[in-house]
Amino acid sequence: MKTKINIIKKLEKDKIFIDEAANVIKDGGLVVFPTETVYGLGANALDSEAVKKIFIAKGRPQDNPLIIHIADKDDLYKYGKNVSKIAKDLADKFWPGPMTLVVEKNNLIPDVTSANLSTIGIRMPSDEVAREFIKKSNVAIAAPSANISGRPSPTDVKRCIEDLDGRVDYILGCNESEVGVESTIVDVSVYPPCVLRPGGITLEMLKEVCQDIYMDKGIIGKDANIKPKAPGMKYTHYSPKARVRVVDGNLDKCVEKINEMVHNYIEKGLRVGVMATDETRNEYKEGLVLSLGTRNDVSTIAKSLFSTLREFDDKHVDIIISEAFMEEGLGVAIMNRLKKACGFDIVKII
Ligand code: TXA
Ligand code: MG
Repeated sequence: MKTKINIIKKLEKDKIFIDEAANVIKDGGLVVFPTETVYGLGANALDSEAVKKIFIAKGRPQDNPLIIHIADKDDLYKYGKNVSKIAKDLADKFWPGPMTLVVEKNNLIPDVTSANLSTIGIRMPSDEVAREFIKKSNVAIAAPSANISGRPSPTDVKRCIEDLDGRVDYILGCNESEVGVESTIVDVSVYPPCVLRPGGITLEMLKEVCQDIYMDKGIIGKDANIKPKAPGMKYTHYSPKARVRVVDGNLDKCVEKINEMVHNYIEKGLRVGVMATDETRNEYKEGLVLSLGTRNDVSTIAKSLFSTLREFDDKHVDIIISEAFMEEGLGVAIMNRLKKACGFDIVKII
């Protein structure tokens, strides 16, 4: 398949690309588009045949449901059923933005989109291009992250092209994604509501709306054996080609341990990458050192996490050793992605 690629530089001047992309959706095609979390791979959410193509293009298991994207808050009621007061309050507070609400679905949504579940994830993105594109398409857009299944999600158009050129009809590019990790998923079809995936909207923020909201145990524990509730969270994920290891504990001791591990791997003839932070990058003596951002503002770390994992792959390292982060606020989302990237291979320093 020939993929048409267009990058929006100035929204005013390049609106034509959004129109083109929306026409592809109307014709039942696949479009990669930017959002504030990560890039999405979209199709008409109500068109089973179009949605099936998403699963094929990504190599995604059919039992993993898709999130649908809306441009108008009221569409929560158009596609959802029995929407609770808490769901409404959350939407009012955090939409448009990086939060997905799981609600009972109505029969407009075909079974392929929801992977035969009776619920559907709905999100209203804050990214202007995303919203304009959804509006012009005049329908909800089903969209997983725009990567080959299992790989780190793309936060810039270059990575979408890398994974999906030739597999989709249209790639609509724009800026890098602001948040860098996928949306927070909250199941509001049950009480108390449950966070199925941590993301840009933290548990602390959600609790301002409802104190009883809690985090699914399957995503916070150190235990890989507690199965997460969201179907997609059980799969291996965010894996670069290199093996990933994470070192957790007192920062100075971690740096020391990582230096020792890097040295040992290099002695064995392996190419090693170190995922550091601005505060520590100069303390590593060997290996390819890349900083994720500053510990003083973990949003910088979330933003560059996936792109840094992919950058190490570009440099053909065999193993990536990463520092760990505090599991609070946005750090919960960062550590969730890191744990999955390393398959829970965490070296704990006491
Ligand atoms: O930020 C995001 O959410 C991005 C952008 C493109 O919007 N999308 C995204 O989609 O991350 P995806 O497909 O890569 O991840 C969706 C996750 C999967 O883990 C899936 O199992 C879960 O959401 N999910 C979707 N619908 C669900 C439902 N009805 N119940 C429980 N989990 C659901
Ligand atoms: Mg994904």
